[in-house]
Amino acid sequence: MKDNFKISIDKDISVAQTIPSFFYKSDSIFYKTVDNIFNNSWQFVVNRNSINHKLYPFYFMEGLIDDPYVLINDDDFKILSNVCTHRAALLCSKKSNGKTIKCNYHGRVFNLNGKLIKHYGFEGVKNFPSKKDDLIKINHFNWNDFIFCSKFSTIDISKIFDDINSRLVNYKFQDLLYNKEESNTYIVDIHWALYCENYLEGFHVPFVHKGLNNDIDYSSYDTIILDSAVLQLAKDKNNKIYAYYYWIFPNIMLNFYDWGLSINIITPLTKNKTRIKFLSFPKKGMTQPKDIPAGINVVEEEDQKIVKSVQKGIQSSNYISGRYSVKHEKGIHYFHSLISDYLE
Ligand code: FES
Ligand SMILES: [Fe+2]
Repeated sequence: MKDNFKISIDKDISVAQTIPSFFYKSDSIFYKTVDNIFNNSWQFVVNRNSINHKLYPFYFMEGLIDDPYVLINDDDFKILSNVCTHRAALLCSKKSNGKTIKCNYHGRVFNLNGKLIKHYGFEGVKNFPSKKDDLIKINHFNWNDFIFCSKFSTIDISKIFDDINSRLVNYKFQDLLYNKEESNTYIVDIHWALYCENYLEGFHVPFVHKGLNNDIDYSSYDTIILDSAVLQLAKDKNNKIYAYYYWIFPNIMLNFYDWGLSINIITPLTKNKTRIKFLSFPKKGMTQPKDIPAGINVVEEEDQKIVKSVQKGIQSSNYISGRYSVKHEKGIHYFHSLISDYLE
């Protein structure tokens, strides 16, 4: 495998070549992607209205990075490491309304600010306790009770939500409620980036999604490059916006429809296996349309089928890379440019 190959995407889409196929095949590039891209990413945690507890444990990128955290859901909202600073026992294993965080291993107690407030058997230990014995806090971002977190990201996620707020002026974000029954998880044998690429262009709509194509005015389809994000807009036949498709680098998709919001989270589990979570947030009193030719589940099936065929094709020794359509593929070109920047 040509693991030492450098990935470099020409900033000029009209001369650029798509990302080379070894990106999808190399183990070392996959690990580098986890370190450089996913470790540094913003991830969606939960919608605050769907939790009833004060302590909400979760894993950052479950199945890939598995970093344990606990969200402290009180007035002084925060996200703390969920690992004891003594010998790394996991602290909270389930949701609770505890007033402190206790370690089951040797009894340390932390307050909900992460400060170590009780310990046993540490007499004679010098310079103890220090700041290092407290639980670390990581960054979080709260947009209308949708909580995101990141340890290291340099992406200013607030700017992306400013864009959403400014375009969807009359959209009732506070009316969005999580619906478990309408939500779905798929595990698919594909490379995560192939799934994102497919999402980032509407070019395939007339070929792959006949039902959706009947609902939208394809000629109005537009792609707007934001900072570390891409917005795609589709209008219906009456010139009304059909959907706002926001993608946040590398793996979050926020799809705003009339009926509500669908959040898609794309998590690589291995190089060739990806989990796709569809979280449904219908507006109060509305339901997510289904089993219609342009329904989310129908479109998703069509997308997965075509991406699985690309997963097979990308293994070919006869394919290295292709060219971008300037008109239709600037979202993918931007995605590939970001990947190459992060992998440098
Ligand atoms: S691991 Fe928590 S007190 Fe020892
Ligand atoms: Fe599609």
